[in-house]
Amino acid sequence: ESDEINVCVTGAAGQIGYAFLPLLLTGQCFGDKKINLRLLDVPQAESILQGVELELQDGAYPLLKSIKTGSDETALFKDVDVAVFIGGFPRKPGMERKDLLTINGNIFKKQGQALNTVAKKNCKSLVVANPANTNCLILAETAKSIPKQNFSALTRLDHNRAISQIALKAGCSITDVKNVIIWGNHSTTQYPDVNHGTVLGKRIRQFINDEAYLNNAFIERVQKRGGEVLAARKNSSVMSAANAVKDHLHDWYFGTKAGEFVSMGVYSDGSYGIPNGLIFSYPVTCANFNYQIVQGLHLDEFSKEKIRITTEELLSEKADAFSP
Ligand code: NAI
Repeated sequence: ESDEINVCVTGAAGQIGYAFLPLLLTGQCFGDKKINLRLLDVPQAESILQGVELELQDGAYPLLKSIKTGSDETALFKDVDVAVFIGGFPRKPGMERKDLLTINGNIFKKQGQALNTVAKKNCKSLVVANPANTNCLILAETAKSIPKQNFSALTRLDHNRAISQIALKAGCSITDVKNVIIWGNHSTTQYPDVNHGTVLGKRIRQFINDEAYLNNAFIERVQKRGGEVLAARKNSSVMSAANAVKDHLHDWYFGTKAGEFVSMGVYSDGSYGIPNGLIFSYPVTCANFNYQIVQGLHLDEFSKEKIRITTEELLSEKADAFSP
Protein backbone atom coordinates (compact mmCIF):
# COMPACT_ATOMS: atom_id res chain seq x y z
CA GLU A 1 0.00 0.00 0.00
CA SER A 2 1.23 3.45 -0.92
CA ASP A 3 2.37 5.80 1.82
CA GLU A 4 0.79 8.68 -0.11
CA ILE A 5 -2.80 9.67 -0.70
CA ASN A 6 -4.20 12.06 -3.31
CA VAL A 7 -6.92 14.20 -1.78
CA CYS A 8 -9.00 16.86 -3.53
CA VAL A 9 -11.02 19.39 -1.55
CA THR A 10 -13.61 21.46 -3.43
CA GLY A 11 -14.81 24.81 -2.14
CA ALA A 12 -11.33 25.06 -0.66
CA ALA A 13 -11.42 28.87 -0.60
CA GLY A 14 -14.46 28.75 1.69
CA GLN A 15 -14.95 28.62 5.43
CA ILE A 16 -15.25 24.88 6.07
CA GLY A 17 -12.30 24.18 3.81
CA TYR A 18 -10.21 26.61 5.84
CA ALA A 19 -11.14 24.90 9.09
CA PHE A 20 -10.79 21.37 7.69
CA LEU A 21 -7.37 21.55 6.01
CA PRO A 22 -5.35 21.73 9.26
CA LEU A 23 -7.18 18.63 10.56
CA LEU A 24 -6.39 16.75 7.35
CA LEU A 25 -2.77 17.84 7.31
CA THR A 26 -2.09 16.84 10.91
CA GLY A 27 -2.97 13.23 10.15
CA GLN A 28 -6.39 13.19 11.78
CA CYS A 29 -8.10 11.57 8.77
CA PHE A 30 -5.59 9.20 7.19
CA GLY A 31 -2.88 8.83 9.81
CA ASP A 32 0.68 9.42 8.69
CA LYS A 33 0.03 9.12 4.95
CA LYS A 34 1.69 11.88 2.97
CA ILE A 35 -0.89 14.03 1.24
CA ASN A 36 -0.90 15.24 -2.34
CA LEU A 37 -3.43 18.01 -1.92
CA ARG A 38 -5.63 19.41 -4.68
CA LEU A 39 -7.66 22.51 -3.93
CA LEU A 40 -10.57 23.36 -6.22
CA ASP A 41 -12.71 26.47 -6.23
CA VAL A 42 -14.36 28.75 -8.79
CA PRO A 43 -12.18 31.07 -10.93
CA GLN A 44 -13.38 34.14 -8.97
CA ALA A 45 -11.83 32.65 -5.83
CA GLU A 46 -8.40 32.17 -7.40
CA SER A 47 -6.64 34.79 -5.30
CA ILE A 48 -8.16 33.48 -2.05
CA LEU A 49 -7.09 29.98 -3.00
CA GLN A 50 -3.56 31.26 -3.54
CA GLY A 51 -3.69 32.85 -0.10
CA VAL A 52 -4.72 29.51 1.40
CA GLU A 53 -1.79 27.90 -0.37
CA LEU A 54 0.58 30.47 1.15
CA GLU A 55 -0.74 29.66 4.62
CA LEU A 56 -0.42 25.94 3.99
CA GLN A 57 3.25 26.52 3.12
CA ASP A 58 3.63 28.54 6.31
CA GLY A 59 2.05 25.71 8.30
CA ALA A 60 5.15 23.64 7.44
CA TYR A 61 3.09 20.45 7.67
CA PRO A 62 5.36 17.42 7.48
CA LEU A 63 2.53 15.40 5.87
CA LEU A 64 1.93 17.85 3.03
CA LYS A 65 3.74 16.37 0.02
CA SER A 66 2.40 18.59 -2.77
CA ILE A 67 -0.26 21.21 -3.52
CA LYS A 68 -2.16 22.02 -6.70
CA THR A 69 -4.83 24.68 -6.84
CA GLY A 70 -7.27 25.82 -9.52
CA SER A 71 -10.75 25.66 -10.99
CA ASP A 72 -10.30 22.85 -13.51
CA GLU A 73 -11.95 19.67 -12.22
CA THR A 74 -10.33 17.46 -14.81
CA ALA A 75 -6.85 18.55 -13.79
CA LEU A 76 -7.50 18.43 -10.05
CA PHE A 77 -9.47 15.16 -9.86
CA LYS A 78 -6.76 13.32 -11.83
CA ASP A 79 -5.91 10.09 -9.96
CA VAL A 80 -7.52 11.24 -6.71
CA ASP A 81 -8.07 8.67 -3.98
CA VAL A 82 -10.40 10.86 -1.95
CA ALA A 83 -12.56 13.83 -2.97
CA VAL A 84 -14.22 16.03 -0.38
CA PHE A 85 -16.97 18.14 -1.95
CA ILE A 86 -17.44 21.24 0.18
CA GLY A 87 -17.98 23.68 -2.69
CA GLY A 88 -21.46 24.63 -3.73
CA PHE A 89 -23.81 27.46 -4.44
CA PRO A 90 -25.36 28.93 -1.27
CA ARG A 91 -29.05 29.58 -0.87
CA LYS A 92 -29.76 33.29 -1.36
CA PRO A 93 -32.78 35.17 -0.05
CA GLY A 94 -35.80 34.63 -2.26
CA MET A 95 -34.38 31.52 -3.89
CA GLU A 96 -36.70 28.54 -4.22
CA ARG A 97 -35.48 25.15 -3.08
CA LYS A 98 -35.84 23.89 -6.64
CA ASP A 99 -33.52 26.63 -7.93
CA LEU A 100 -30.92 25.63 -5.35
CA LEU A 101 -31.27 21.98 -6.34
CA THR A 102 -30.92 22.82 -10.02
CA ILE A 103 -27.87 25.07 -9.64
CA ASN A 104 -26.06 22.62 -7.38
CA GLY A 105 -27.27 19.70 -9.48
CA ASN A 106 -25.47 21.19 -12.46
CA ILE A 107 -22.29 21.69 -10.43
CA PHE A 108 -22.38 18.07 -9.26
CA LYS A 109 -23.11 16.73 -12.74
CA LYS A 110 -20.07 18.54 -14.10
CA GLN A 111 -17.88 17.37 -11.23
CA GLY A 112 -19.29 13.83 -11.49
CA GLN A 113 -18.32 13.69 -15.15
CA ALA A 114 -14.79 14.79 -14.38
CA LEU A 115 -14.52 12.35 -11.47
CA ASN A 116 -15.80 9.55 -13.70
CA THR A 117 -13.18 10.29 -16.32
CA VAL A 118 -10.00 10.98 -14.39
CA ALA A 119 -10.25 9.83 -10.75
CA LYS A 120 -9.07 6.42 -9.59
CA LYS A 121 -11.87 3.86 -9.94
CA ASN A 122 -11.77 3.15 -6.22
CA CYS A 123 -11.89 6.86 -5.34
CA LYS A 124 -13.99 7.69 -2.27
CA SER A 125 -16.21 10.77 -2.20
CA LEU A 126 -17.70 12.71 0.69
CA VAL A 127 -20.27 15.41 -0.11
CA VAL A 128 -20.66 18.23 2.41
CA ALA A 129 -22.21 20.97 0.26
CA ASN A 130 -25.96 21.34 0.66
CA PRO A 131 -28.35 19.85 -0.17
CA ALA A 132 -25.73 17.22 0.69
CA ASN A 133 -27.74 14.03 0.16
CA THR A 134 -29.14 15.02 -3.21
CA ASN A 135 -25.87 16.55 -4.42
CA CYS A 136 -24.22 13.25 -3.52
CA LEU A 137 -26.89 11.29 -5.38
CA ILE A 138 -26.31 13.33 -8.53
CA LEU A 139 -22.56 12.84 -8.19
CA ALA A 140 -22.93 9.07 -7.74
CA GLU A 141 -25.40 8.75 -10.63
CA THR A 142 -23.11 10.76 -12.91
CA ALA A 143 -19.79 9.10 -12.03
CA LYS A 144 -21.15 5.74 -13.17
CA SER A 145 -17.84 3.91 -13.46
CA ILE A 146 -17.19 4.31 -9.72
CA PRO A 147 -19.08 1.94 -7.37
CA LYS A 148 -22.05 3.46 -5.51
CA GLN A 149 -20.50 2.19 -2.26
CA ASN A 150 -17.76 4.81 -2.69
CA PHE A 151 -20.08 7.81 -2.25
CA SER A 152 -21.24 9.34 1.00
CA ALA A 153 -22.84 12.50 2.33
CA LEU A 154 -22.04 14.18 5.63
CA THR A 155 -24.54 13.64 8.46
CA ARG A 156 -21.81 13.22 11.04
CA LEU A 157 -22.30 16.77 12.28
CA ASP A 158 -25.91 15.90 13.12
CA HIS A 159 -24.72 12.67 14.71
CA ASN A 160 -22.16 14.50 16.85
CA ARG A 161 -24.76 17.07 17.84
CA ALA A 162 -27.07 14.28 19.00
CA ILE A 163 -24.33 12.57 21.05
CA SER A 164 -23.39 15.86 22.62
CA GLN A 165 -26.95 16.79 23.59
CA ILE A 166 -27.44 13.39 25.24
CA ALA A 167 -24.14 13.71 27.11
CA LEU A 168 -25.13 17.17 28.36
CA LYS A 169 -28.56 15.96 29.45
CA ALA A 170 -27.13 12.85 31.12
CA GLY A 171 -24.28 14.79 32.74
CA CYS A 172 -21.70 12.35 31.42
CA SER A 173 -18.83 12.53 28.98
CA ILE A 174 -19.06 12.19 25.21
CA THR A 175 -17.40 8.78 25.17
CA ASP A 176 -20.05 7.43 27.56
CA VAL A 177 -22.70 7.89 24.84
CA LYS A 178 -22.86 5.32 22.07
CA ASN A 179 -24.92 4.42 19.02
CA VAL A 180 -27.27 7.31 18.46
CA ILE A 181 -28.49 7.36 14.85
CA ILE A 182 -29.34 10.05 12.33
CA TRP A 183 -31.79 8.69 9.75
CA GLY A 184 -32.51 10.34 6.42
CA ASN A 185 -31.77 13.76 5.09
CA HIS A 186 -29.24 16.31 6.35
CA SER A 187 -32.07 18.81 6.88
CA THR A 188 -34.67 19.63 9.50
CA THR A 189 -36.58 16.44 8.61
CA GLN A 190 -33.71 14.21 9.78
CA TYR A 191 -34.64 11.78 12.53
CA PRO A 192 -32.20 11.69 15.46
CA ASP A 193 -32.98 8.29 17.03
CA VAL A 194 -31.89 7.35 20.56
CA ASN A 195 -33.70 4.00 20.73
CA HIS A 196 -30.63 1.88 20.04
CA GLY A 197 -28.13 3.97 21.95
CA THR A 198 -26.64 3.69 25.41
CA VAL A 199 -25.24 5.91 28.14
CA LEU A 200 -22.64 4.12 30.27
CA GLY A 201 -23.96 0.83 28.91
CA LYS A 202 -27.57 1.54 29.86
CA ARG A 203 -30.31 2.28 27.32
CA ILE A 204 -30.54 6.03 26.68
CA ARG A 205 -34.29 6.08 27.37
CA GLN A 206 -33.76 4.33 30.69
CA PHE A 207 -30.81 6.47 31.72
CA ILE A 208 -32.38 9.84 30.82
CA ASN A 209 -35.86 8.76 31.87
CA ASP A 210 -37.62 11.71 30.24
CA GLU A 211 -39.78 10.61 27.31
CA ALA A 212 -41.21 14.07 26.68
CA TYR A 213 -37.70 15.50 26.30
CA LEU A 214 -36.39 12.69 24.11
CA ASN A 215 -39.43 12.64 21.81
CA ASN A 216 -39.70 16.39 21.37
CA ALA A 217 -37.13 18.95 22.53
CA PHE A 218 -34.13 16.69 21.88
CA ILE A 219 -35.19 15.84 18.34
CA GLU A 220 -36.06 19.42 17.48
CA ARG A 221 -32.86 20.79 18.92
CA VAL A 222 -30.70 18.49 16.81
CA GLN A 223 -32.83 19.07 13.71
CA LYS A 224 -32.59 22.84 14.07
CA ARG A 225 -29.12 23.16 15.57
CA GLY A 226 -27.71 24.67 12.38
CA GLY A 227 -30.21 27.51 12.70
CA GLU A 228 -29.39 27.98 16.36
CA VAL A 229 -25.69 28.36 15.56
CA LEU A 230 -26.46 30.68 12.66
CA ALA A 231 -28.57 32.96 14.84
CA ALA A 232 -25.97 33.14 17.61
CA ARG A 233 -22.82 33.37 15.54
CA LYS A 234 -24.37 35.29 12.67
CA ASN A 235 -22.59 32.73 10.56
CA SER A 236 -23.16 29.09 9.71
CA SER A 237 -21.54 26.10 11.42
CA VAL A 238 -17.94 25.91 10.32
CA MET A 239 -15.64 24.60 13.07
CA SER A 240 -18.04 21.82 14.00
CA ALA A 241 -18.70 20.99 10.35
CA ALA A 242 -14.97 20.67 9.63
CA ASN A 243 -14.59 18.49 12.72
CA ALA A 244 -17.40 16.24 11.49
CA VAL A 245 -15.75 15.92 8.06
CA LYS A 246 -12.62 14.76 9.87
CA ASP A 247 -14.55 12.25 12.02
CA HIS A 248 -16.43 10.88 8.99
CA LEU A 249 -13.24 10.32 6.96
CA HIS A 250 -11.29 8.96 9.92
CA ASP A 251 -13.88 6.36 10.83
CA TRP A 252 -14.60 5.36 7.23
CA TYR A 253 -10.88 4.86 6.62
CA PHE A 254 -9.73 3.39 9.94
CA GLY A 255 -13.01 1.70 10.92
CA THR A 256 -15.50 2.07 13.72
CA LYS A 257 -14.88 0.57 17.17
CA ALA A 258 -16.25 -2.91 17.91
CA GLY A 259 -19.94 -2.75 18.83
CA GLU A 260 -20.25 0.89 17.78
CA PHE A 261 -21.80 2.56 14.79
CA VAL A 262 -21.89 6.04 13.30
CA SER A 263 -24.23 7.81 10.87
CA MET A 264 -23.36 8.32 7.20
CA GLY A 265 -25.42 9.32 4.21
CA VAL A 266 -25.00 6.39 1.83
CA TYR A 267 -26.64 4.88 -1.25
CA SER A 268 -29.78 3.08 -0.12
CA ASP A 269 -30.06 -0.60 -0.92
CA GLY A 270 -33.60 -1.09 0.38
CA SER A 271 -32.50 -1.51 4.02
CA TYR A 272 -35.29 -0.60 6.45
CA GLY A 273 -37.74 -0.27 3.57
CA ILE A 274 -36.13 2.89 2.19
CA PRO A 275 -36.48 2.98 -1.61
CA ASN A 276 -33.33 2.11 -3.55
CA GLY A 277 -31.39 4.96 -5.07
CA LEU A 278 -31.51 7.65 -2.40
CA ILE A 279 -28.57 8.93 -0.43
CA PHE A 280 -29.95 8.22 3.02
CA SER A 281 -28.33 8.61 6.42
CA TYR A 282 -28.09 5.18 8.07
CA PRO A 283 -26.28 3.68 11.02
CA VAL A 284 -23.14 2.08 9.61
CA THR A 285 -20.07 0.22 10.77
CA CYS A 286 -16.83 0.77 8.88
CA ALA A 287 -13.62 -1.13 8.24
CA ASN A 288 -10.83 -0.61 5.69
CA PHE A 289 -12.50 2.33 3.96
CA ASN A 290 -15.74 0.37 3.51
CA TYR A 291 -19.02 0.66 5.32
CA GLN A 292 -21.90 -1.67 6.05
CA ILE A 293 -25.39 -0.59 6.95
CA VAL A 294 -26.29 -1.90 10.42
CA GLN A 295 -29.09 -4.44 9.94
CA GLY A 296 -31.86 -5.77 12.12
CA LEU A 297 -32.65 -2.77 14.33
CA HIS A 298 -36.28 -2.74 15.41
CA LEU A 299 -38.19 0.40 14.42
CA ASP A 300 -41.26 1.33 16.44
CA GLU A 301 -44.23 3.23 14.96
CA PHE A 302 -42.87 6.60 16.12
CA SER A 303 -39.57 5.97 14.36
CA LYS A 304 -41.26 4.64 11.22
CA GLU A 305 -43.33 7.80 10.91
CA LYS A 306 -40.28 10.07 11.38
CA ILE A 307 -38.35 8.04 8.80
CA ARG A 308 -41.27 8.24 6.40
CA ILE A 309 -41.24 12.05 6.59
CA THR A 310 -37.54 12.41 5.83
CA THR A 311 -37.81 9.78 3.05
CA GLU A 312 -40.62 11.77 1.42
CA GLU A 313 -38.44 14.86 1.46
CA LEU A 314 -35.54 13.05 -0.16
CA LEU A 315 -37.82 11.61 -2.83
CA SER A 316 -39.15 15.06 -3.62
CA GLU A 317 -35.63 16.55 -3.73
CA LYS A 318 -34.65 13.76 -6.10
CA ALA A 319 -37.69 14.42 -8.30
CA ASP A 320 -36.88 18.15 -8.41
CA ALA A 321 -33.18 17.61 -9.04
CA PHE A 322 -33.72 15.11 -11.84
CA SER A 323 -36.62 16.92 -13.54
CA PRO A 324 -35.55 18.94 -16.60
P1 NAI B 1 -18.48 29.02 1.85
O1 NAI B 1 -19.44 29.83 1.04
O2 NAI B 1 -17.57 29.69 2.80
O3 NAI B 1 -17.56 28.16 0.85
C1 NAI B 1 -18.06 27.53 -0.27
C2 NAI B 1 -16.99 27.60 -1.34
O4 NAI B 1 -17.43 26.82 -2.45
C3 NAI B 1 -16.74 29.00 -1.86
O5 NAI B 1 -15.35 29.29 -1.79
C4 NAI B 1 -17.22 28.94 -3.29
O6 NAI B 1 -16.49 29.77 -4.16
C5 NAI B 1 -16.99 27.47 -3.60
N1 NAI B 1 -17.71 26.97 -4.78
C6 NAI B 1 -18.91 27.35 -5.26
N2 NAI B 1 -19.18 26.70 -6.41
C7 NAI B 1 -18.13 25.86 -6.62
C8 NAI B 1 -17.82 24.95 -7.65
N3 NAI B 1 -18.65 24.75 -8.68
N4 NAI B 1 -16.66 24.27 -7.56
C9 NAI B 1 -15.82 24.48 -6.55
N5 NAI B 1 -16.05 25.35 -5.55
C10 NAI B 1 -17.19 26.03 -5.60
O7 NAI B 1 -19.35 27.92 2.56
P2 NAI B 1 -18.97 26.95 3.79
O8 NAI B 1 -19.38 27.58 5.05
O9 NAI B 1 -17.56 26.50 3.63
O10 NAI B 1 -19.98 25.75 3.50
C11 NAI B 1 -19.80 24.93 2.38
C12 NAI B 1 -21.02 24.05 2.16
O11 NAI B 1 -21.18 23.13 3.23
C13 NAI B 1 -22.35 24.80 2.05
O12 NAI B 1 -23.10 24.22 0.99
C14 NAI B 1 -23.03 24.51 3.37
O13 NAI B 1 -24.43 24.59 3.27
C15 NAI B 1 -22.56 23.10 3.60
N6 NAI B 1 -22.63 22.61 4.98
C16 NAI B 1 -22.95 21.29 5.17
C17 NAI B 1 -22.98 20.73 6.42
C18 NAI B 1 -23.32 19.29 6.59
O14 NAI B 1 -23.40 18.86 7.74
N7 NAI B 1 -23.53 18.50 5.55
C19 NAI B 1 -22.69 21.54 7.60
C20 NAI B 1 -22.34 22.91 7.32
C21 NAI B 1 -22.32 23.41 6.05
